[in-house]
Amino acid sequence: MTTRRLVLSRGAALVGAASTGLLLPQIARAQSNKIRVGFMLPYTGTYAQLGVAIENGVRMAIGERGGKLGGREIEWFKVDDESEPSKGVENANRLVQRDKVDVLIGTVHSGVQMGIQRVARESGVLSLIPNAGVHAATRALCAPNVFRTSFTNSQPTLALGKPMVDKGLKKAVWITWKYAAGDEAFEGFRDSYTKAGGTIVKELGLPFPNVEFQALLTEIASLRPDAVACFFAGGGAAKFIKDYAAAGLKDKIPLWGSGFLTEGVLDAAGPAAEGIMTTMHYADSLDIPKNRQFRLDYAKAFKSQPDVYAVQGYDTGVLLSQGMTAIKGDIANKQALYKALETQTIDSPRGKWTMSKSHNPVQDIYLRRVEKGDNKVIGVAAKALSDSGAGCKLAA
Ligand code: PHB
Repeated sequence: MTTRRLVLSRGAALVGAASTGLLLPQIARAQSNKIRVGFMLPYTGTYAQLGVAIENGVRMAIGERGGKLGGREIEWFKVDDESEPSKGVENANRLVQRDKVDVLIGTVHSGVQMGIQRVARESGVLSLIPNAGVHAATRALCAPNVFRTSFTNSQPTLALGKPMVDKGLKKAVWITWKYAAGDEAFEGFRDSYTKAGGTIVKELGLPFPNVEFQALLTEIASLRPDAVACFFAGGGAAKFIKDYAAAGLKDKIPLWGSGFLTEGVLDAAGPAAEGIMTTMHYADSLDIPKNRQFRLDYAKAFKSQPDVYAVQGYDTGVLLSQGMTAIKGDIANKQALYKALETQTIDSPRGKWTMSKSHNPVQDIYLRRVEKGDNKVIGVAAKALSDSGAGCKLAA
C-alpha cells in the first residue's frame, strides 16, 4: 500500500513537471548529452605518480583537440584504486553503476585490472587500459569493448634478452615483485634470454609493494651473475635502484630491466641510475617531431617531465578523441565505435602505432641507457612488436 502510493505520487510529480514545462526534462537531456568519462587510477601508494601522469596525458590530448569528444562536452569522474586488487570490482562499479560512465579509463596495476575486466565484460562499458599489462586482458579474456593503449607485460622484456647476451652477459639473476606484472615480464625475459643463449641462474621475488630488498641484494652479491634483470616500477623502482647502488652492486653487476624501472624515477634515483639498460616502447630522447613537441607542451602544462605513463595517457586521449570524432559522438553505436577504435593509427610521442586484432598496441621497442638523468635511445630492439593475443576470440 505504502509502495503503491509512493509510486503514484512520484509519477504524478513527473507528469506535473513535464506538463508545466519545468526545467527538469531539459536538465536531464543536457546532462545525458555529455560524455561521462571515469578515471580509475592509483592516486595513493607506490604507483600514485603513475596515475597522475596518465590523467595528465589524457587531459592534455583531449584539451589539444578542443576539450570535447565527438562534439560532446565531457563530465569527468575519478576513483583512487590504491593499486588494491581486492577492491578492483567494487571500485570499477563505483564508476560504472554509481556514476554511469560511458568510458572507463584505468588502470595501472595488473591485479586491479582483472577487476575492471570483469566489470567491463559484464556491463559492456567501453574500457581503455592506459597501463596495466596483464596478458589476459587482450588474450583469453579479451573483449570487443576493451582496448589497451600501453603494452602487454611481456612485450618490453621480449626485446631484453638478446641485447644482454650480445653484450656477453650470459648468466643472469631475475628479480621482481611477485604478481602478474612481474611474473609475465619474466615470461618475456625468459623466452628472449634463453633463446639468445643465456642462462637464468636464479629467480628472486618479493610481494608487491614490499621494498625490503636487502636480503635479496645480499643473495645477488653471493651468486655473482654476469647481470641482473628485473621488473619494478614507481616509487619501489627508485628505491631498488638506490639500494642496488648502496649495496655496492652497481659497478660490479650491470643492472638491466623492463623499462619501467627507469620511468618517472630518474630525479629520485639520481646518480645511482646512471648506466642502467632497459627495453621499452618509449624513450625521453626519441628524436621525432611528435615527441619533441609533446615534451615541451607537457612540461609547460604540468611543470614536470613526461614519462612513458604520460605518453600512454596521452595516447588514450588521442584514441578516444579520434574514435569519437569518427562516429560523431554517437557512443551508443557500439559496432561503429569498436570499428573506429580498431582502425586508428596513433601518432604518438613513442612513434606511430596501430591496434592488434586483440586490441593491444603493435609497436617498436627501444633499447635505452640512462645517461645524465635521461633515458637515451641506443637503438630499436624490436620492430613493430605485437603481442601473441593467444586465446583471444576476436583475433580469429
Ligand atoms: C602492472 O601492474 O601491469 C604494471 C604496473 C606498473 C608498470 C607496468 C605494469 O610500470
